[in-house]
Amino acid sequence: MFNVAIDGPAGAGKSTIAKKVAKELDFIYVDTGAMYRSMALYFIRKQVKAAEVDKIITLLPEIHVTIAYENGEQHVYLNGEDVSTLIRNEEVSQMTSSISTIPEVREKLLSLQRNLAKENNVLMDGRDIGTCVLPDAELKIYLTASVEVRAKRRYNEMIEKGMECDLEELEASIKERDYRDMNREIAPLKQAEDAVLLDTSDMNIEEVVNAIIQMVKERA
Ligand code: DC
Repeated sequence: MFNVAIDGPAGAGKSTIAKKVAKELDFIYVDTGAMYRSMALYFIRKQVKAAEVDKIITLLPEIHVTIAYENGEQHVYLNGEDVSTLIRNEEVSQMTSSISTIPEVREKLLSLQRNLAKENNVLMDGRDIGTCVLPDAELKIYLTASVEVRAKRRYNEMIEKGMECDLEELEASIKERDYRDMNREIAPLKQAEDAVLLDTSDMNIEEVVNAIIQMVKERA
């Protein structure tokens, strides 16, 4: 199998890019953030606070996260319910960033992620794919962009969807998540030693997609 690990901070464009590359190469795109997000949604619904770590750990056996592909798109299921669209909001984003610092939460998703990579050619994106989940991936990419550029991209996306938002608030929220994701004790976001750094601040989507396809072809 050929595995591509893509890591990077929130809003770097990982999922947009990975989806396009996966389609082009006929690989499976695995969005690991969605798996963490569906767990966060479970705790929000149970009205558990992120700080209630013991409670979160006790509830873990009740949670079953699975994924399925429909027309090439990943759908994530929480105890059998398709929550793919319900997990895309700011409340879930912040809760996810908090609960993903808990080792037991990470452990729960590890085998699901590794099994997918064992059985398929995948492009897997997240925070710890190159460093922890797939240390032997054939290609590792660290995708990033400046905070300002990432916030502006999110802003444009939301405005396009007709949602109200504030650029400064978005920037603050991205910074907060970056800090938490990069400074946690377990599996923090960092560039793997053997990862290729791609700073997309001054690149458009097509340029990034083509650069990655080129790298895959060179290594295949
Ligand atoms: O990629 P995303 O925005 O959907 O990720 C949401 C949060 O999940 C992110 O802030 C950190 C966490 N996450 C993680 O800890 N490890 C991963 N492999 C993917 C996401």
